[in-house]
Amino acid sequence: MPEKKPKAPVKEDADEFLTLDYNNLTSEAVGSKGLGPEELAEMKGLVGAAHKDVEARYRKGGLPFMDLPRDPDTAKSARKLAEMGRKRFENVVVLGIGGSALGAAAVFNALRPLNHNELPSAKRGWPRLIVCDNVDPEGFAAVLEGLDLKSTFFNVISKSGATAETMSQFMIVFDQLQRTLGRSAIKDHLLVTTDPEGGVLRKIAHDGEFNSLPVPPGVGGRYSVFSAVGIAPLAMVGVNITDLLAGAARAQEDARKPPSGNKAYVFAGLNYMMATAKKRNILVMMPYADALSRTGEWFGQLWNESLGKSQKLDGSPNPSCQTAVKALGVTDQHSQLQMYMEGSDEKTVCFLGVDAYRHQVNIPAIFKDHEELAYLGGHSLGELISCERQGVSRALADSGRPNMTLTLPKVSAATVGYLLQTLEVAAVVSGSLYGIDPLDQPGVELGKRFTYGLMGRQGFAEFKDRFQKGLVAKKKYIVK
Ligand code: PA5
Repeated sequence: MPEKKPKAPVKEDADEFLTLDYNNLTSEAVGSKGLGPEELAEMKGLVGAAHKDVEARYRKGGLPFMDLPRDPDTAKSARKLAEMGRKRFENVVVLGIGGSALGAAAVFNALRPLNHNELPSAKRGWPRLIVCDNVDPEGFAAVLEGLDLKSTFFNVISKSGATAETMSQFMIVFDQLQRTLGRSAIKDHLLVTTDPEGGVLRKIAHDGEFNSLPVPPGVGGRYSVFSAVGIAPLAMVGVNITDLLAGAARAQEDARKPPSGNKAYVFAGLNYMMATAKKRNILVMMPYADALSRTGEWFGQLWNESLGKSQKLDGSPNPSCQTAVKALGVTDQHSQLQMYMEGSDEKTVCFLGVDAYRHQVNIPAIFKDHEELAYLGGHSLGELISCERQGVSRALADSGRPNMTLTLPKVSAATVGYLLQTLEVAAVVSGSLYGIDPLDQPGVELGKRFTYGLMGRQGFAEFKDRFQKGLVAKKKYIVK
């Protein structure tokens, strides 16, 4: 029977998923540091042109990530894996880095209970998810030591199949599985997610007849969360992928509508104007929810790898861009906020708020005789965190510091799907506004070449020589 397409919850208004409030980015709220009527009108023209450009690129097949939420094959394979894995495994371990790890990490953080991995098996109902995205020997050893390989499933994810970090992890795990469970058992404990045709990882999967899923051609890591890269491990740990994909599909539908009132385009346009017309080159993404903390990290990669380009598509220098950094409310109100309020004035803050939290925790009405505490009693932590977010947003505006707020009515599979797809489209729209390619990342290559040279990879000896020559000259500036 053919798999049903994910249903889009089309009946709901777009603001049932996400609202964007940019009052505090306007000159009415923050004076000359904000966007005035002429700049907002200019922005309207620019996003109109970007819309034509993005639509043309999409129609030519240049933006395949936009079709991922409606791809029934991914959901079908993921559900099959989830059914198999739920009965058999206690742990699903993702071996991947950057775009091959952050999407699953962000959605897992948002949609499974925050203590999912610590819950006993019966209460959890689904395997734990462990995302290994570093090669710190202490961290990786600690993860491996805590695993019973018999009840652990590994998903190695690398589009290129050549990423040194992921492939090193894979080699270590493969060897351990082979020595502990035997060569023939590896098949039951391994899923390979990589390019459908090319690369050494695809060859290994093919030769070893291992389970494998494709990273769709033309979809880069940071745009791949709704492909098998994110959807397969997320389904295996109990995330509602049907609603997640439906929310993303709805966002994609909305993102194709005319650009004014279209959140992806307005978000991109506002940030472009803040970076270019107002020279504010830092964007602080500040979720006010522990569940969205890793979404802040995912966004950091999306924005920075997509927009940090020295050259425009026509070869001319790209003079401005916007570095995304992450802060967490309310925690970072007590560590970063002083700088945002009164310090170097080059930031735009984007709060990421939630209207209704999934748990209600009341503050008991005790210590009534202590006026410093009495006002808290009878309220809830949800009220406190929301009042803090709104209070800080207003305080920044009153100090002439531009900010805006994205709000999810609640954190759910549909709203998170909507948010992530909207931001992915916004990154591509931003690429069009800056005139750069948001899908490549040429700047990370040189560092990789030096690493290859230092690790002795064939064909990269010149980078080892170049590195060592540099060391001699630099000795005098090292303090020991
Ligand atoms: O967004 C990207 O393209 C990168 O972050 C990649 O995902 C990351 O470098 C890992 O690459 P690969 O999936 O080829 O191992």
